[in-house]
Amino acid sequence: MDTYKLCYGLLFICEVAVLYCNCQTTTLTPIDPEVIEGDDVTFVCTVVSGTVDFVNWQVAVNASTSYVTPMAVPNGACAVSQTTSILTNKAKYSYECNSTVYQVTVKNVQRSQHNVTWSCFPQGQASGPTSTINVQFPVSSVSITPASTDVVDVEENTGVVFTCQTSEARPNASVTWYKVESGVTAPISQNITTSTTYEDFSVTTSILRFVPSTPQNGLQIFCKAKNSVNISPEESSRQTLNVL
Ligand SMILES: *[C@@H]1O[C@H](CO)[C@@H](O)[C@H](O)[C@H]1NC(C)=O
Ligand SMILES: *[C@@H]1O[C@H](CO)[C@@H](O)[C@H](O)[C@H]1NC(C)=O
Ligand SMILES: *[C@@H]1O[C@H](CO)[C@@H](O)[C@H](O)[C@H]1NC(C)=O
Ligand SMILES: *[C@@H]1O[C@H](CO)[C@@H](O)[C@H](O)[C@H]1NC(C)=O
Ligand SMILES: *[C@@H]1O[C@H](CO)[C@@H](O)[C@H](O)[C@H]1NC(C)=O
Repeated sequence: MDTYKLCYGLLFICEVAVLYCNCQTTTLTPIDPEVIEGDDVTFVCTVVSGTVDFVNWQVAVNASTSYVTPMAVPNGACAVSQTTSILTNKAKYSYECNSTVYQVTVKNVQRSQHNVTWSCFPQGQASGPTSTINVQFPVSSVSITPASTDVVDVEENTGVVFTCQTSEARPNASVTWYKVESGVTAPISQNITTSTTYEDFSVTTSILRFVPSTPQNGLQIFCKAKNSVNISPEESSRQTLNVL
């Protein structure tokens, strides 16, 4: 068979298919963005070739709740249903569109919106590309136990156990330990066990087993914690040792 004829034949079939099947596909950006709590994120849904009269935005809040909201350009103006669309909440969303580019801005993203999945698909399609929001937030505090209201009695060569625990954070936080001796602060790196529990957000627990020597009477212990979102680490209160 003549190769040219085969090629033109296939091209013709493809053109007919595009004309009659509403096969337009969309791209969605950004994919799975990491958003710092309080920031905005703008999802841009672009029709790959040509134009469509409307797209559906699907917002899957969790496994059991999702919303579908059509967005259209009826008379050159971008519109959503004023009665049913979640996008009419101007405090939470803004949107704009033309027949090629449809976009939604989620304003002031909160940690409750972690793992919410956005997707956009054109007229004639049942699904499209998806993008899941990963909301990140800093360590807001770190506590030390035993509580530092009392001086901790500790026997020389026996040691004492301190535990530092972070507030909820995402991503995982790291904890570091310090001692203050004669006004000088120095890091502690030995006898530390750290663990993180992660379920939607993480809590990091670090356990220090500290064995003082007599001259270290009056020494103070504290810890710091931060994750990649913290501008500066959070500090625990200071625990004063009374070596017996
Ligand atoms: C899913 O999200 C809805 C709306 O935010 C909420 O009311 C519901 O409790 C959530 N369900 C689960 C299983 O998390
Ligand atoms: C994120 O959402 C998916 C689908 O709704 C669910 O299977 C998964 O458990 C969720 N993950 C978290 C950390 O909530
Ligand atoms: C739609 O909007 C985008 C950006 O907002 C612009 O680049 C594009 O040219 C517009 N398309 C049409 C058909 O107006
Ligand atoms: C965060 O901690 C959890 C629980 O230990 C772990 O499964 C996960 O891999 C950690 N994430 C990162 C990015 O280290
Ligand atoms: C770590 O623990 C060991 C055994 O309990 C102890 O001998 C050592 O002094 C400890 N190191 C520090 C820096 O506390």
